[in-house]
Amino acid sequence: SFPTVVAIDGPAGSGKSSVSRAAARRLGFAYLDTGAAYRALAWHVLDHKVDTESADAVKAALADFDYSIGTDPDEYFVLVGETDVTDAIRSPAVSAAVSAVARVPEVRTHLTWLFQNLANNVDRPGVVVEGRDITTVVAPDADVRILLTASEEARMARRSAEITTQSAETVADQLRSRDRADSQVVDFMSAADGVTTVDSTHLDLEQTITAVIDVIHTRT
Ligand code: C5P
Repeated sequence: SFPTVVAIDGPAGSGKSSVSRAAARRLGFAYLDTGAAYRALAWHVLDHKVDTESADAVKAALADFDYSIGTDPDEYFVLVGETDVTDAIRSPAVSAAVSAVARVPEVRTHLTWLFQNLANNVDRPGVVVEGRDITTVVAPDADVRILLTASEEARMARRSAEITTQSAETVADQLRSRDRADSQVVDFMSAADGVTTVDSTHLDLEQTITAVIDVIHTRT
């Protein structure tokens, strides 16, 4: 039988990744970070010195993109070929390149198909899939669909607390421009029909995890 699917979308800094992973761990579910796959492709494209602004070049790079991503919330990793890129995909260079890669339609079709395959084949009773278009495109029929939001101010503050190698203004600028680019491709700021919004602006991490798990229990 198919696993229970929990789809979680939201912008950067909403707490999406930490919350999704913690919820998966507590429920004994698998965890799929789709942003990590887009980041892995951006890393691969940069590694091959491909022009990220050329959709054709990015499309071509997709042909030899061989990645694997861990779906165990306790042993999270991302590999491109044999290279462990778990940390490298968080670099400012990758963050700056990822939106251009993610807007190529063939990239989205290819990765969406991979995510659906991964999600349906986990060896756990359920899976938490996290990203920007999970509730709408990757898993519109998911058992539970959540949009995790937070005010821009709260999101910027969280991100700059995470990234200590750059100034708060630099981090905020980069986040704003990535959000702007990404929202031209998918709408992850408003909840689609049937999607439950969890606003984490005034919640700490633990409270947000609890709120998300409450929604999951109500819906399953
Ligand atoms: O979630 P994260 O910030 O790591 O995502 C990195 C990038 O991957 C986003 O900025 C976006 O360009 C892309 N992405 C996407 N669709 C998803 C998940 C991520 O386009 N479902």
